[in-house]
Amino acid sequence: MALASAVLAQDLFIASPPPYTILAAGSQVTVQLVEKSPHNRADVSIGIQYCKSESECPDVLQDLGQILYTGPYTPGHHEDADYAYQNMTVTIPSTWHSGLAQLGAVVIWGFGDGQDDAARVILNVVSSK
Ligand SMILES: *[C@@H]1O[C@H](CO)[C@@H](O)[C@H](O)[C@H]1NC(C)=O
Repeated sequence: MALASAVLAQDLFIASPPPYTILAAGSQVTVQLVEKSPHNRADVSIGIQYCKSESECPDVLQDLGQILYTGPYTPGHHEDADYAYQNMTVTIPSTWHSGLAQLGAVVIWGFGDGQDDAARVILNVVSSK
Protein backbone atom coordinates (compact mmCIF):
# COMPACT_ATOMS: atom_id res chain seq x y z
CA MET A 1 0.00 0.00 0.00
CA ALA A 2 2.78 2.42 0.93
CA LEU A 3 4.64 1.44 -2.21
CA ALA A 4 1.58 1.96 -4.39
CA SER A 5 1.00 5.48 -3.08
CA ALA A 6 4.71 6.33 -3.45
CA VAL A 7 4.59 5.32 -7.10
CA LEU A 8 1.35 7.24 -7.60
CA ALA A 9 2.83 10.38 -6.06
CA GLN A 10 5.72 10.31 -8.53
CA ASP A 11 3.32 10.47 -11.45
CA LEU A 12 2.87 14.15 -10.71
CA PHE A 13 5.91 16.40 -10.53
CA ILE A 14 7.04 19.96 -10.98
CA ALA A 15 9.56 20.08 -13.83
CA SER A 16 10.11 23.81 -13.57
CA PRO A 17 11.26 25.84 -11.70
CA PRO A 18 14.10 23.51 -10.61
CA PRO A 19 14.75 23.00 -6.86
CA TYR A 20 16.43 25.90 -5.05
CA THR A 21 15.76 28.38 -7.83
CA ILE A 22 16.39 31.87 -6.46
CA LEU A 23 13.36 34.10 -6.95
CA ALA A 24 12.64 37.64 -5.83
CA ALA A 25 9.49 38.28 -3.83
CA GLY A 26 6.92 39.83 -6.16
CA SER A 27 8.34 38.16 -9.27
CA GLN A 28 6.51 35.83 -11.61
CA VAL A 29 7.49 32.24 -12.26
CA THR A 30 6.18 29.61 -14.65
CA VAL A 31 5.23 26.38 -12.91
CA GLN A 32 5.47 23.42 -15.26
CA LEU A 33 3.36 20.65 -13.76
CA VAL A 34 3.82 17.23 -15.34
CA GLU A 35 1.46 14.28 -15.00
CA LYS A 36 2.68 10.96 -16.40
CA SER A 37 -0.78 9.40 -16.52
CA PRO A 38 -3.43 12.12 -16.66
CA HIS A 39 -7.02 11.25 -15.87
CA ASN A 40 -9.99 12.99 -17.43
CA ARG A 41 -10.96 15.99 -15.37
CA ALA A 42 -8.96 17.71 -12.69
CA ASP A 43 -8.54 20.94 -10.80
CA VAL A 44 -5.23 22.22 -9.52
CA SER A 45 -4.27 24.50 -6.67
CA ILE A 46 -0.77 25.91 -6.24
CA GLY A 47 0.36 27.39 -2.95
CA ILE A 48 3.47 28.69 -1.28
CA GLN A 49 4.55 28.03 2.29
CA TYR A 50 7.60 28.79 4.43
CA CYS A 51 9.97 25.91 5.25
CA LYS A 52 11.80 25.64 8.55
CA SER A 53 14.73 23.99 6.80
CA GLU A 54 15.54 21.98 3.67
CA SER A 55 14.16 18.86 5.33
CA GLU A 56 11.29 20.50 7.21
CA CYS A 57 8.57 21.77 4.94
CA PRO A 58 4.86 21.27 5.56
CA ASP A 59 3.03 18.33 3.96
CA VAL A 60 1.54 19.76 0.78
CA LEU A 61 -1.64 17.70 1.11
CA GLN A 62 -2.16 18.96 4.68
CA ASP A 63 -1.23 22.59 4.15
CA LEU A 64 -0.81 24.23 0.78
CA GLY A 65 -0.05 27.59 2.38
CA GLN A 66 -0.96 30.79 0.59
CA ILE A 67 -2.86 29.93 -2.58
CA LEU A 68 -1.33 31.45 -5.72
CA TYR A 69 -3.35 29.67 -8.39
CA THR A 70 -6.54 27.66 -8.70
CA GLY A 71 -8.02 26.42 -11.95
CA PRO A 72 -8.59 23.49 -14.25
CA TYR A 73 -5.71 21.09 -14.86
CA THR A 74 -5.66 19.99 -18.48
CA PRO A 75 -2.09 18.87 -19.24
CA GLY A 76 -1.25 18.66 -22.93
CA HIS A 77 1.50 17.02 -24.96
CA HIS A 78 4.16 19.39 -26.22
CA GLU A 79 7.18 18.73 -28.42
CA ASP A 80 9.69 19.73 -25.73
CA ALA A 81 8.70 17.09 -23.15
CA ASP A 82 8.09 13.34 -22.88
CA TYR A 83 5.00 13.71 -20.71
CA ALA A 84 1.89 15.84 -20.77
CA TYR A 85 2.22 19.08 -18.83
CA GLN A 86 0.58 22.39 -18.16
CA ASN A 87 2.33 25.69 -17.55
CA MET A 88 0.87 28.07 -15.02
CA THR A 89 2.30 31.45 -14.18
CA VAL A 90 2.18 32.45 -10.53
CA THR A 91 3.42 35.52 -8.67
CA ILE A 92 5.47 35.16 -5.50
CA PRO A 93 3.79 37.47 -2.93
CA SER A 94 5.66 40.79 -2.78
CA THR A 95 5.70 40.75 1.03
CA TRP A 96 7.29 37.27 1.20
CA HIS A 97 10.28 37.05 3.56
CA SER A 98 13.67 35.71 2.47
CA GLY A 99 14.30 32.02 2.96
CA LEU A 100 13.36 28.57 1.79
CA ALA A 101 9.81 28.24 0.61
CA GLN A 102 7.83 25.30 -0.66
CA LEU A 103 5.84 25.70 -3.83
CA GLY A 104 3.24 22.95 -3.73
CA ALA A 105 0.62 21.76 -6.18
CA VAL A 106 -2.38 19.61 -5.41
CA VAL A 107 -4.38 18.03 -8.21
CA ILE A 108 -7.92 16.95 -7.41
CA TRP A 109 -9.18 14.45 -9.94
CA GLY A 110 -12.81 14.36 -10.95
CA PHE A 111 -15.17 12.18 -8.95
CA GLY A 112 -14.17 8.51 -9.09
CA ASP A 113 -11.01 9.27 -11.06
CA GLY A 114 -8.51 8.57 -8.28
CA GLN A 115 -7.15 10.17 -5.16
CA ASP A 116 -5.62 13.62 -4.84
CA ASP A 117 -2.06 13.96 -6.05
CA ALA A 118 0.56 16.39 -4.83
CA ALA A 119 3.97 17.64 -5.90
CA ARG A 120 6.35 20.23 -4.54
CA VAL A 121 9.58 22.08 -5.16
CA ILE A 122 11.67 24.03 -2.70
CA LEU A 123 12.58 27.55 -3.74
CA ASN A 124 14.93 30.15 -2.36
CA VAL A 125 12.97 33.40 -2.12
CA VAL A 126 14.77 36.70 -1.68
CA SER A 127 12.80 39.48 -0.05
CA SER A 128 12.44 42.62 -2.13
CA LYS A 129 13.07 44.84 0.93
C1 LIG B 1 6.36 25.89 -20.45
O1 LIG B 1 7.32 26.53 -19.61
C2 LIG B 1 8.65 26.12 -19.86
C3 LIG B 1 9.53 26.75 -18.79
O2 LIG B 1 9.32 28.13 -18.71
C4 LIG B 1 9.02 26.49 -21.30
O3 LIG B 1 10.36 26.06 -21.56
C5 LIG B 1 8.06 25.82 -22.26
O4 LIG B 1 8.34 26.23 -23.58
C6 LIG B 1 6.63 26.19 -21.92
N1 LIG B 1 5.73 25.42 -22.78
C7 LIG B 1 4.67 25.96 -23.35
C8 LIG B 1 3.83 25.02 -24.16
O5 LIG B 1 4.34 27.13 -23.22
